[in-house]
Amino acid sequence: MRFFIDTADLDQIEEAKDLGILDGVTTNPSLMAKSGITGAKNIEDHYKRICELVEGDVSAEVIATDVKGIISEGEYLAGLAPNIVVKVPMIKDGIKAISYFSEKGIKTNCTLVFSPGQAILAAKAGATYISPFIGRVDDINWDGIALIQDLAEIYAVQMFETEILAASIRNAKHIVDAARAGADIATCPLHTILGLFKHPLTDIGLEKFLADHAKANS
Ligand code: E4P
Repeated sequence: MRFFIDTADLDQIEEAKDLGILDGVTTNPSLMAKSGITGAKNIEDHYKRICELVEGDVSAEVIATDVKGIISEGEYLAGLAPNIVVKVPMIKDGIKAISYFSEKGIKTNCTLVFSPGQAILAAKAGATYISPFIGRVDDINWDGIALIQDLAEIYAVQMFETEILAASIRNAKHIVDAARAGADIATCPLHTILGLFKHPLTDIGLEKFLADHAKANS
């Protein structure tokens, strides 16, 4: 499984990169706004900074919702850096644009995926990644991990090449469950990645090893 970080915050991206396990970055308009990045020029400069920081794929989301607008915005974003992936919403015009990008060899991430039917459409259009939103599915009392299982099964049976990028991850358990369910990638806020470290027996065990060492060597 690959790990992307789900943030526009450069410090958090640095921290995840320092762990040596970071494979890419996803952003969305809400995350850019949360980091205080506003205005076309600042947003563009910010994407360039993220792409310099990280070697792997960096998803940059289009704002346009019509096919012409998505294509022109997406081509512009793709031109900012070689590791930009154009993030396109799961709507009719988005699927048309993904087909176009796929033919042009531009990588895409189809976002706001909540059902197997949507995932089939995105794969047929040639999306590089699909982003099923686990947390938001759980929020409406449905089962986000069951969705990942469904998608993994369908993509395997149909031999689709689109990769499953589990998104809207809220905790460390989501990451583990998404890995078991067959997600190719998890895009996670930093705190959920750090949550994977936590185990009380690790802390107790290390404390004891260090205490025994200190006693024996005093
Ligand atoms: C990433 O690609 C998604 O936009 C993001 O994971 C959504 O997360 P949220 O549901 O916590 O906003």
